[in-house]
Amino acid sequence: MTPWRENEVIQNIPSTGSFYCSIVELSMAAPNNKTLIPGESVTLCDQDGGVKDEDKKPEVSNQRKSVGEQNLVSAFKQMKLEREAQKNWDLFYKRNATNFFKDRHWTSREFDELKTCRQSESQKLVLLEAGCGVGNCIFPLLEEECNIFVYACDFSPRAVDFVKKNPLCHPERCAVFQCDLTHDDLRDNIPEGCVDAAMLIFVLSAIHPEKMASAVRNIHTVLKAGGVVLFRDYGVHDHAMRRFKASSKLADNFYVRQDGTRSYFFSKDFLAALFSEAGFCCITIEYVQRETVNKKEGLCVPRVFLQAKFTKRES
Ligand SMILES: C[S@@+](CC[C@H](N)C(=O)[O-])C[C@H]1O[C@@H](n2cnc3c(N)ncnc32)[C@H](O)[C@@H]1O
Repeated sequence: MTPWRENEVIQNIPSTGSFYCSIVELSMAAPNNKTLIPGESVTLCDQDGGVKDEDKKPEVSNQRKSVGEQNLVSAFKQMKLEREAQKNWDLFYKRNATNFFKDRHWTSREFDELKTCRQSESQKLVLLEAGCGVGNCIFPLLEEECNIFVYACDFSPRAVDFVKKNPLCHPERCAVFQCDLTHDDLRDNIPEGCVDAAMLIFVLSAIHPEKMASAVRNIHTVLKAGGVVLFRDYGVHDHAMRRFKASSKLADNFYVRQDGTRSYFFSKDFLAALFSEAGFCCITIEYVQRETVNKKEGLCVPRVFLQAKFTKRES
């Protein structure tokens, strides 16, 4: 089967309301095409060897049940997934190294703050990328913007090592460390209240919904008053959400992939409440509609992301 790969295709679909389309992004198959594809990746049918027969059966029976009656993954398995969350992400980077996600060159286009939130030209913009993976967000920024200092952290020690080994990672321009955002105090590595902008790009979705608030409060502590969180992640009813089997459902809008990594799909209300309760004001929040294109097969699937900006409330 032809993998879905990143295609930079401009869709000729006019902007309407809060929805817009532009460069199709971020669809990449794992090198061996064997696993379900985390992040923004999509295939139209199950990957080779990706779904076992027994995984398919519950979906058929669940079709007869109401949503509320659907069987969720057992509590035992859910606890195991939570316990092994770090291990599963680390194994993801063991399998894929730096080859899975492509560099995200769109962040400064989407978030003006990455260019304009400096108070003066002489002042450095201090950024935090929380859940940086192997640096696909930060390295394009380090390349295009000289006057930034980046703190970057991730759950996976392997991902952190990949970032540290990148030739663009100089100690005078970035500090990289391993941490669990839901548990480890960011102030152990970042001075309190020093960050101008924190990026959360496809990261909160990987965290259990009950622990997201801890991660957001943690980020709050290192942001300046008036500092911003730049957020982009999966939106409810994204194609990736629809593709999950009923047997992969952990909770409302929360699913587990074949490799044990998990994905939450955000609604505006859920996200706005999460940040409001952690001491943020919402600046913008909107669904972003994109299309992932497989040119070879002439197929195109709709994607839904949620993009938002929050500012730390002055206390
Ligand atoms: C889909 S990747 C996105 C990586 C990166 N932000 C990017 O845009 O390429 C999700 C990342 O979140 C990290 N992650 C998951 N749970 C985390 C946690 N509790 N604390 C810190 N990072 C976490 C994973 O290790 C993984 O690198």
